[in-house]
Amino acid sequence: MRIFILNGPNLNLLGEREPAVYGHTTLADIEHACRQRAEALGASTDFRQSNAEGDLIDWIHQARRDADALIINAGAYTHTSIAIMDALLALTIPVIEVHLSNIFRRESFRHHSYISQAATGMICGLGAKGYELAIEAAVSAHGTGHS
Ligand code: DQA
Repeated sequence: MRIFILNGPNLNLLGEREPAVYGHTTLADIEHACRQRAEALGASTDFRQSNAEGDLIDWIHQARRDADALIINAGAYTHTSIAIMDALLALTIPVIEVHLSNIFRRESFRHHSYISQAATGMICGLGAKGYELAIEAAVSAHGTGHS
């Protein structure tokens, strides 16, 4: 089973960016933890980050062919991108939305997620651990055929 893990804008700055909100873990640390967790569950990961909306959309399209589940932290595009939502709606595989911070404890403009409209489920507020939990959810959703 192959899991795409897509990360949107500014997540390349994790570890340096607003550490009081996002912690000191870097995206490379998260990628490493994801690979280990997935391998322990018999899955493989394809971990990517882009600051460009179009790249994320192209990768979601690629997931239609090449992935069995998709995990996405779309960063601020979560709250703005109908185009990413539409691309996700074209998928038939499980989609797990992740946010490091609890978006519901933050500014009201972060309370709405377009991604959630197209997601199987969502994990937020648990920091980097949320990615590992999303891998577990993706593996079990894939196993049960739920998307
Ligand atoms: C985020 C939450 C978003 O509101 C924000 O724009 C991000 C990161 C998170 O992981 O907590 O860039 O997706």
